[in-house]
Amino acid sequence: MPLDIVIGAQWGDEGKGRAVDLLAEKSDLVARFNGGDNAGHTVTVGKKIYKLHLIPSGIIHPNTLGVMGSGMVLNPQTLVEEISMLREAAVAINPERLWISDAVQLITPAHRLLDHAQDAALGKAQIGTTGRGIGPAYVDKASRRGLRAGEILEPDFFASHVRAHFDEVNHLLKDWYHQPGLDVDALVKEYLGFNEQISPYIRRIGPLVQGTLNEGKTVLAEGAQGTLLDVEQGTYPYVTSSCTTSAGVFSGLGLGVQSVRKVMGVVKAFQTRVGAGPFPTELEGELANFLRGTGANPWDEYGTTTGRPRRVGWLDLMLLRYAHEVNGFSELFLTKLDVLSGLSGIPVCVAYQRGGRKIDVLDFSGDARLLSRCTPVYETLPGWQEDLRECRNWEDLPTAAQTYVQYIEKQTGLPVQNISVGPERSALITRS
Ligand code: IMP
Repeated sequence: MPLDIVIGAQWGDEGKGRAVDLLAEKSDLVARFNGGDNAGHTVTVGKKIYKLHLIPSGIIHPNTLGVMGSGMVLNPQTLVEEISMLREAAVAINPERLWISDAVQLITPAHRLLDHAQDAALGKAQIGTTGRGIGPAYVDKASRRGLRAGEILEPDFFASHVRAHFDEVNHLLKDWYHQPGLDVDALVKEYLGFNEQISPYIRRIGPLVQGTLNEGKTVLAEGAQGTLLDVEQGTYPYVTSSCTTSAGVFSGLGLGVQSVRKVMGVVKAFQTRVGAGPFPTELEGELANFLRGTGANPWDEYGTTTGRPRRVGWLDLMLLRYAHEVNGFSELFLTKLDVLSGLSGIPVCVAYQRGGRKIDVLDFSGDARLLSRCTPVYETLPGWQEDLRECRNWEDLPTAAQTYVQYIEKQTGLPVQNISVGPERSALITRS
């Protein structure tokens, strides 16, 4: 009864869609367990590009079932839009194929407004959230007044809970954040309008997920965001509000740990970050533009959800070793190695200097204040000039590219099983 887990090893946007796409082909059920429509998973199949924010991206494989676990926060409007986008792309979405946990927390337009108001109120200390209402929805969950999807199946109770929620946020927005008030009646009416469309998908997911595992079938847990955005282990407070690490799979799907077969860490060949927070290996100027791309291609480094240019920098092996420690990876999936072609040398961060001392193992849990005091110590590896996009076998890679991959393996103690060398599904090197 194998459970495979795909986790972003950096600050999100590692290209998890590629890893999920590869594993989903051989999976019977694909589940999201954390986050909401702050995520953006891009999968390119032939000329079609699928950009999914909420529904597990593995569902584009016709033989999989999709599950949205209780660790998620769900915006009904995004869900309805995504369902119709997938149907237009001829992906079958129906209640037989897509299950939504009755314990999923719901996001409302009021959460979104609150997200904007709260982040703006932080002034210079802004997190730079995606503005999708993620933080406020998780706050409501933790403070035990959140709206759960299962309530939709009890329309009267749900209607009064929704109204109380909008009333409360209205009060907060007006009196605390000095924002214009909400039209509560209109919002309640509009929000309840999604009930009919989403209620057929809502049920207890445990029996389906556990039942699939018990039958010896494969379940794939698709992580959103990345390890360094984890609310506990990430670069706090510049994090998202969910558990993005492998630990989140078990609470977010309501499963025990017995079934785990692999925990695949997805790592970009360099490093990117969206939003604020420390980034020791960050680059600016020409090199940053080189790594980021112009934005002309969908795979350039611009946010899938927000369109914001991503911050870019060299690979940070200190943080990658930390990500391994908090996730227990069994292997790595390296993405975007092709982007590094054309450099004469490639610096990678192997240690930090902090307070006049060299450290090669993090002695704190992500903490942004402490990380911002660290400066990187680099080792420069040889670059290569060849275009890697047509490479399909390990032997096709130039020696310097092989050395780069082997260096990551040596520094992390993990095998790099897959290497993506282009956006296409087929632009992949799988090592035996
Ligand atoms: P939130 O998740 O919208 O609250 O945003 C909190 C932080 O996480 C911000 O820095 C966002 O840019 C970042 N973030 C959230 N989701 C993603 C993602 O899918 N990829 C990259 N960064 C993300």
